[in-house]
Amino acid sequence: MKIAVIGTGYVGLVTGTCFADSGNDVTCIDIDEKKIENLKQGIIPIYEPGLTELVQRNSAAGRLKFTTDTAAGVQPAEVVYLAVGTPQGKDGSANMSAMWSVVKAIAPYLQESAIVVTKSTVPVGTNAKIFGMLKELTGRECDVASNPEFLKEGAAIEDFMKPDRVVVGVRRPEVSDVLHQLYEPFLRTEKPFISMSPESAEMTKYVANAMLATKISFINEMANLCEKMGGDINDVRRGIGHDSRIGFAFLFPGVGYGGSCFPKDVRALTSMSLDHDCEPTLLRAVDEVNERQKSVFKQPILDHFDGDLKGKNIAVWGLAFKPRTDDIREAPALVLIDWLLEQGASIKVHDPEAMENVEAELGDKVAYCKFRMDAIEGADALVIMTEWKDYHSPDFAEMYQLMKSPVVFDGRNLYEPERMKRRGYKYYSIGRKA
Ligand code: UGA
Repeated sequence: MKIAVIGTGYVGLVTGTCFADSGNDVTCIDIDEKKIENLKQGIIPIYEPGLTELVQRNSAAGRLKFTTDTAAGVQPAEVVYLAVGTPQGKDGSANMSAMWSVVKAIAPYLQESAIVVTKSTVPVGTNAKIFGMLKELTGRECDVASNPEFLKEGAAIEDFMKPDRVVVGVRRPEVSDVLHQLYEPFLRTEKPFISMSPESAEMTKYVANAMLATKISFINEMANLCEKMGGDINDVRRGIGHDSRIGFAFLFPGVGYGGSCFPKDVRALTSMSLDHDCEPTLLRAVDEVNERQKSVFKQPILDHFDGDLKGKNIAVWGLAFKPRTDDIREAPALVLIDWLLEQGASIKVHDPEAMENVEAELGDKVAYCKFRMDAIEGADALVIMTEWKDYHSPDFAEMYQLMKSPVVFDGRNLYEPERMKRRGYKYYSIGRKA
């Protein structure tokens, strides 16, 4: 099939590349000339395991092209995917300006039978609105479908190639059939292809993310309670997870969720609820608990240093909002670092992938260390904010020697409290007794 993908951000680039890999002719279109120039040379703007190789392989095979020329990309396309950003706008609602301008830009070049598919996370009713816009702009009733994406950063290729399910929202079964053909190579393990209305598909995406965010805020609140009452959240998690109605997934306590999706989608759904006179009590609580959780270590750190952090050397391991990405959007580490700076601490940081992005934001306010052990040299405390594999099994004896005082605030519960005690560390974690 001939496919055009508009927008070469995370979702667009992965979608285009994976569809090319399954044998389609894909043209990825973006207005960012520098980005397109780089992509033509196989240079990928984000860190995503496996993506560079896949882009290079499919470009070399001639199945994957990059251009800034909307006309050239859209004219031959049977399916046009819209994958532009829908960032958080005012009042928490999704900012749709990129989407509307793209709809206007493609309209003159659409084939009569082309199917326009929204891949971006868009408010309920967007597909209907695009249908209306295209009718006005082209004079035709174009097929517009929703096909939300559920991939995770850091596992994007795997998630796209082996989805748990594919959801499409269509008005006509024929459109569903075309999209089903497109996804068949990825559904060979009999995972379901679920067809519904565009409104239901749009809603599915928000509900999935809101549900996952709710699980995280729930377990974080329970973790904080556990800690106060002398329980251990890891044991409690084991105790509840074997109930098949509850399960284990997405119930890891931590320093709160970040990234470009959960925070913005929970807020966008909150804003949609308010627009429809529904009080989003639970959604608001999920966001509020999460914001608070990002600061969960402030008090214990203050208590540990008797309220005075001036001149203290603090090491921070992990800056990205989660491992296997260089993405620092809404990252809990940045909230903590801002506060540590306000308190007068001096900070050394390490992250395997995200340091460049942090440097662009914080400049020389913190020191960047290429090696994790350099960050803890002379440190009064280490704070772990992201569970990169690099941090799971450090040489604790070496760490003990390097640090000025052996104190660890572990925001991802990577170590066993008893063992840390035996190793001589003062160890704080989430939902477990210090
Ligand atoms: C999330 C969803 O998982 C994807 O299904 C969805 O497609 C994507 O948003 C999106 O809407 O585009 P992503 O933001 O890449 O994917 O990352 P996740 O792996 O879901 O992690 C999100 C945050 O939750 C991270 O900060 C992570 O540390 C935190 N988390 C996750 C926890 O604190 N505890 C957990 O048990 C799981």
